[in-house]
Amino acid sequence: MVPPDNSKRVAVLASGNGSNLQALLDNVHNRDGVEIVRVISDKPGAFALQRAAASDVPTAVFPREDFEDRAARDAAIAEQLRDDDVALVVLAGYMAILSPQFIRDFEGRIVNVHPSLLPKFPGLDAIGQALRAGEAETGVTVHYVDEGVDTGPTIAQESLTIDPDEPLEALTERIHEIEHRLLPSVVARLAQEKVSP
Ligand code: GRF
Repeated sequence: MVPPDNSKRVAVLASGNGSNLQALLDNVHNRDGVEIVRVISDKPGAFALQRAAASDVPTAVFPREDFEDRAARDAAIAEQLRDDDVALVVLAGYMAILSPQFIRDFEGRIVNVHPSLLPKFPGLDAIGQALRAGEAETGVTVHYVDEGVDTGPTIAQESLTIDPDEPLEALTERIHEIEHRLLPSVVARLAQEKVSP
């Protein structure tokens, strides 16, 4: 029996503003058969949830305090994603660290967008880190997620030159412009390729 082709069913995990989610909704959702079937957040007030609702994409919220521990919360998220028959999980500003079991459950099918040229400047405030380090360039990385923090294999990177005396806000805006192009292009490509590392 031929297994069902679920390769274009995508879930997005987001904790905050969700501008990267919006870029996915605007550029890949319901195009070339790619469907964002679920948006999940750990934060009930995340603006990303409103963006999903505005595009009629179902949402689910898994606040940390509703679960005994991180593993239990992530097991519940994994169950939701399996119920949704999701092939690809996109972390778009998802600020919680995923448990090792979750990573194993979806191995090679979780991607993240990070605002630096990894392996440089993993973790929080990556744009500020690059600026304070006096880097001549920085950029955006889309990568597979493994059990480390921003350590999985790179899928795509795009760099930009940091202007002398560039304020953090201006650099952040230019980084976001790249993210909003690079992430949708990777998701569209992976969906075509049936998602494998
Ligand atoms: C982005 O800069 C992304 O690279 C990082 O978190 C930020 C999320 O922004 N992982 P948004 O919520 O998509 O607007």
